[in-house]
Order: sequence, then C-alpha cells, then structure tokens
Amino acid sequence: MERFSNTAEKCADLIRSSKEVVVVSHIDADGLTSAGIMCTALKRMGKPYTTRFEKKLDSAALKNIADNCPGKLVIFTDLGSGALDEIVALGIPAVIADHHQPRPVEYEYHLNPHLHGLNGATDICGAGMSFILAMKLGDNVDLSSLAIVGAVGDLQDMRNNALVGVNRQILEMGKEHGYLFFEKDLKLFGRQTRPIFKLLQYSSDPFIPGLSGSEDSCIAFLENAGVHVRTDTWRRWIDLSPQEKKTVTSKLIQYCLSCGMQPYKVQRLIGDVYTLLKEEPGTELRDASEYSTLLNATARYDHADIGLAVCMGDRGDAFNYARDLLEQHRRNLVNGLNYVMDKGVTRLENLQYFHAKKEIRETIVGIIAGMSSSLDCVRRDMPIIGFANSEEGIKVSGRGNHDLILRGLNLAKAIGESADEVGGAGGGHDIAAGATIPFGKEDEFITILDQKIGKQLRPKSQ
Ligand code: C5P
Ligand code: C5P
Ligand code: C5P
Ligand code: ZN
Repeated sequence: MERFSNTAEKCADLIRSSKEVVVVSHIDADGLTSAGIMCTALKRMGKPYTTRFEKKLDSAALKNIADNCPGKLVIFTDLGSGALDEIVALGIPAVIADHHQPRPVEYEYHLNPHLHGLNGATDICGAGMSFILAMKLGDNVDLSSLAIVGAVGDLQDMRNNALVGVNRQILEMGKEHGYLFFEKDLKLFGRQTRPIFKLLQYSSDPFIPGLSGSEDSCIAFLENAGVHVRTDTWRRWIDLSPQEKKTVTSKLIQYCLSCGMQPYKVQRLIGDVYTLLKEEPGTELRDASEYSTLLNATARYDHADIGLAVCMGDRGDAFNYARDLLEQHRRNLVNGLNYVMDKGVTRLENLQYFHAKKEIRETIVGIIAGMSSSLDCVRRDMPIIGFANSEEGIKVSGRGNHDLILRGLNLAKAIGESADEVGGAGGGHDIAAGATIPFGKEDEFITILDQKIGKQLRPKSQ
C-alpha cells in the first residue's frame, strides 16, 4: 500500500482544496463499492459532492461530464485510466482511482496499480484504490469491508482461490480492526442466505455432475450425509455445526472425485471466504460474495443509486428494493446460462463465441460469459466471447482464465485493438475485457480477434 502513498497524498490535497466534487464511477459491484467508499469519505469531511454512474467512459460520456461539471473536481473511480488521454485533452480537472489498463499518458493525479508494477486483475480493484485514497482523507478504516466486496465482485480471488497482493493487506487491516473475518470454507454461493441444498443445486463453477441443477438429488445427497436440510425452516450453511460442515465438505469432495471431475475443478470448491462482521448474520451483506451480487443486481439494471445507498448504510427501503432486484438478477443469470447451453458456442481456431442478440442483457453478458466456462459445451483452453445487442452497437464481453494468461493471453489488448479496427472501442484486463462495436461488424471483429489471440497464445505445454 505504501507505494501509492505519494500519489494518494497529492490526490487527497487536491480534493481537500476543491470546493465541490463529482464522483464518477462504474456500474458494477466494484464501481458501486468504489463510489460508496469515496462518497462516505467526502461526507465525513463535509465536502459537497454529486455522483454519476457510467456503463463505459466513451467520448460522449466524457464530453457530457466536461460540459455539465464546469469548475468541479471530478473523481473517477473504477474507471478513467483507459480514457486518460481524452480526460487530459478535454481539460477535466480530475483525480483517477482505477485499476484498468491505463493509457500511456503522464498525469499527476492518477492512482493505478499498473503504474507500480502490480496487476489490476488480481492485486487490487477500483474499490481498493478508492480505499487507499479514502485513508488519506480521514479515519476510514471501516471502509476496508467495501474494498473487499469490490475485489470479490471483480472476481480478484479466483486466481489463487484467495485474495492476494494489496487486497490481502486491506483484508488484514480490516481484520485487525474487527471489520472483517476470513477462513477457508466451501466456496459455494449463498452461505448466509440460501437453503444448503441450493448451494449445491446452483453450483455452476464448478458444475457438479448429478447435483448441479437438481433439487431432489441435492437434498438426497445432504440427507445421506446425515445432514438434515430442514428443521423448522430450511437450514442455511451458517446454521450447520462445524462438524456438519466438515462432513458435507469431505463427502462432496469424495463425490466429485468419484464421478471423474478433474482435481483442479474440485479444488475450486474450497477457498477463502470473507465475512463482514458488522453486518447482520443471515443477510446478503454479511458475505462479500453475496453482497457483491446484490450490488450487481442494482447497478446493472439502471438502479446504481439503490446500490450506492446500500453501500452507504441504508438498511431500510434501498436494501429491500435491492433484494427484490436480486431475485430477478438470479433468474436472468440462470436463463442466460441456459441460453448458452441450448444454443452452444461457435468455435474458431483460438476462441469460442456465442451471440445472444436481445436474449441476454448487454450489462450481464460478461457475467454469463464468465460463468459459462463451467458448462460442458465451453472449452477452457480458449477464451470465450459473448455478443449482445445494445443501443449504441454490439456489446462484446470476453473472458479468459489463469492458464490462458500464462500462455500469453491479454484480452484487453486483443479486444481493444480488434474493436479499434472495426470502428469500435474497448479495453479492460488481461483476463476479462469488453468493447462496443458497430452493428453488423461481428464477423469481421471475431475474425480479427481470433488472429490476434492466435498470435498471443503460446502452445500448450504438455
Ligand atoms: O470493470 P471491471 O474491472 O470492474 O470488471 C472486471 C471484470 O473481470 C469482472 O466482470 C470480473 O468478473 C472479471 N474477471 C473474471 N475473472 C477473473 C477476474 C476478473 O471474469 N479471474
Ligand atoms: O461481471 P463480473 O464477471 O464481475 O461478474 C461477477 C459476478 O458474477 C459476481 O458478483 C456474481 O454476481 C456473478 N457470479 C455468480 N456466480 C458465479 C460466478 C459469478 O453469481 N459462480
Ligand atoms: O462488460 P464486461 O463485464 O465484459 O467488462 C469486462 C472488463 O472490460 C471490465 O473491466 C470493463 O470495465 C472493461 N470494458 C472496457 N471497455 C468496454 C467494455 C468493457 O474497458 N467498452
Ligand atoms: Zn473494477
């Protein structure tokens, strides 16, 4: 964290000396937690602020910001680095706290892990960068919880099945001050809120043959392991005794291995899980992963204001509304995965893709592309690209994995350059990137992208 100290201090000075600020952030869990951290810090300082959420920071969005916020300092969180050249060219007075691959432009008030030899997909997220800045603005150590929710929301714990790098430092700090707790546990989604059998039933990453998708077999599996799924009410993971948790975990591992699941997939069942100690047990907010999904359910459906209110402490109307949105989000993710499963994917030499047209909302096609890697029809030795229609053009979302990164994959570069060549724009991270391209350019784009990825990838080691 120390390596950011000088730049963070400069940014904090600029914020302190500005009369009014505008926080501009990204519409996903990391973007919302970033904004939640920054707005809370500003509120505590008594600094007047307004907020704006953007799907992406293209020329139109930047121009709009430049025109509508004259004289105000703009704090970009979880975005901005990829548009730094334009921000500077437009003369927007800005502080940037981001983790996306930056444009090669010198700028004094730019916080980004890539400028310090760190990886923006694993070491720290937008919320982490915002937290580092917030720590220079006041006593904001409690906001470490939101920084961890942001990191988990961006799946920064996937590579090592645990948070590493600066994320880990923030985690330790939150733990030391009594805000966070972490432990190794079954890493299935819904530990706090869902009936145990549903954790198994909805496990898509990894997909558990014979259990994923089948309520009856999940209930039978648990009862056979001697763990009752119901007492007065459905029991949740947090209701089980430590012994029961152990039994389920080891029976599940045995089961997965016995039905031929590859060991690397089985390993993904266990990993660090993160608990927010100041939140009510049994709510989505108590678990970092459930919290981040709750936030995605607001921001990706044009309700970023609701998610931000939750991040800033609303446990009433906004929280209840967010929970309603979550139900719909879950249905959309399941429907999206079923769509990919039904239609299958098209394979080129170095990538595979699906085109969802209007069937998957463009704001969640990336989540579905990522989750689809556990489907049988999707190969893990090439990236997966999803297309969906959006108002401005065709939305592209690409997802890779750690093995592909080791072989040289950089999706941000490949997708960004291919989009440029067909008159679109994009960027992101080595492991996950996106773009918007003009209508009708999909075939041309995917051919170019296939070639670029072919050039990046070294052959598989045997
Ligand atoms: O815009 P932003 O940087 O917040 O989004 C990062 C994206 O990368 C998320 O959609 C996240 O799920 C994805 N990701 C991934 N696999 C990883 C790391 C990140 O799909 N291992
Ligand atoms: O857009 P990105 O790829 O960040 O999406 C991350 C989100 O994907 C998580 O916050 C969660 O909503 C969803 N997800 C999930 N179950 C998985 C993997 C991802 O709900 N197994
Ligand atoms: O939208 P999606 O979830 O696929 O985004 C994956 C990553 O690519 C995110 O980090 C996002 O910020 C980035 N992205 C981008 N430019 C776009 C679309 C996505 O930099 N036009
Ligand atoms: Zn992010």
